[in-house]
Amino acid sequence: MVIQFATMRHIIHFCLLFTLSTAPLFSQQHKEFALSAEKAERMQWWTEARFGMFIHWGLYALPARHEWVMSNEQMSKKEYAKYASYFNPDLYNPKEWAKLAKDAGMKYVVFTAKHHDGFSMYDTQYSDYKVTNAPIGRDLLKELIDAFRAEDIRIGIYYSLIDWHHPDFLVNEHIHPERNKQQEIAKDKNRNKKRFQDFLINQLTELMTNYGQIDVLFADFSYPHKKNGKGKSYWNSEALYKQIRKLQPNIVLNDRLDLEEEGGWDYKSPEQFMPQNWVTYQGEKVPWETCQTFSGSWGYHRDQYTWKSPRQTIVMLIETVSKGGNLLLNVGPTARGVIQDEAVTRLAATHQWMKYNSRAIYGCTAAPEKFETPANCLLTYNPKTNRLYVHVLEWPFKTIYLPGLAGKVKYAQILNDASELKLGTQKGAWLDDVKKDDDGLKITIPVRKPDVEIPVIELFLN
Ligand code: GLC
Repeated sequence: MVIQFATMRHIIHFCLLFTLSTAPLFSQQHKEFALSAEKAERMQWWTEARFGMFIHWGLYALPARHEWVMSNEQMSKKEYAKYASYFNPDLYNPKEWAKLAKDAGMKYVVFTAKHHDGFSMYDTQYSDYKVTNAPIGRDLLKELIDAFRAEDIRIGIYYSLIDWHHPDFLVNEHIHPERNKQQEIAKDKNRNKKRFQDFLINQLTELMTNYGQIDVLFADFSYPHKKNGKGKSYWNSEALYKQIRKLQPNIVLNDRLDLEEEGGWDYKSPEQFMPQNWVTYQGEKVPWETCQTFSGSWGYHRDQYTWKSPRQTIVMLIETVSKGGNLLLNVGPTARGVIQDEAVTRLAATHQWMKYNSRAIYGCTAAPEKFETPANCLLTYNPKTNRLYVHVLEWPFKTIYLPGLAGKVKYAQILNDASELKLGTQKGAWLDDVKKDDDGLKITIPVRKPDVEIPVIELFLN
């Protein structure tokens, strides 16, 4: 087995080297090898991390009614640009944000360097519409990166391909804020696509060059199938992809450049819903990350009251990992630069839970298919330590029944206090409602639910 595995690795490495040195970037021939071996190595930290913080912060924090406010209310560029002259987040302290993320157990951050409104939260050379020209007058991205790096948190950049401020960006499509302004639509024929593409590649080059190692790029987003929609040919995605990889060879990249078929992506990024199963692409399980909000809007929304409970947030994290994915959980700071109390409370709950149970998250994934999920539970599994984690959503009375696990477990404990759980039940405690050939394992548990939001049982497998 060991020899076979080592040989396999050599073959893969050889093919990888061969592929990298001889094959063009999007060669069909070697695509699969190039993807699997290179990808697995590059993504190892990401796959083990499982939990990150998304931060949506920009001018939209001022109107405070959704980061799409410019489009939703069909504002003109000029109308919206007034927010740039009021943007002065005097309470901004990214060290506090980084501490919050760290305590909550988050291992990476993804920050909006530029959202669809086109306002750069960093000191770009390619536009005046930027944070260094607003009253705050500082490179907020740089400060954030320094603060998160100091906490040992990996750095991700969100970059919007869509740009509702850029004069060369076509207006006549379904989501542009000026989509119903005839005068603006008329100007479309003079808008220069090449100039816009140069702008994108220039900004991405700055972001991939000026801030040290960038671990994740979250590009947003393509809609080629809509009427006048925009996708790879509009962004010139292949050139962007090559440039990104050239400047940051180890970067982990999402799937929104519209290069799915070409393999120009590392993970799928379903948002705002919980996938039913491990996410697949063309029938194959792929790396995936779901990004989720606490309350619906990504940017700060003053009047939104649809907050998920702290418990729901924790379950969301467990459920994501139980299906082999990552959770990128969003905060939308205010225009003063503060992460609101509702989010802080929820992150504190995550902190409390992760403090005792993170072992059931980091480095974990879906349990092997042969293990059936017990009633009212979720399973995660660490393949390196061969431990199975039973997350008990509803604490049952005195006995927990684990189908298929008889004879497969050598030791069991409650994770939060490492207290032993005896395998099996006392004689007679189980009536003959269980079949003779039953392969389930019964474990005696305390009547009182352990004092954590979701208790976890750690099973050391044979
Ligand atoms: C969508 C939205 C955007 C948000 C993003 C996060 O693409 O347009 O507002 O930033 O999802 O994934």
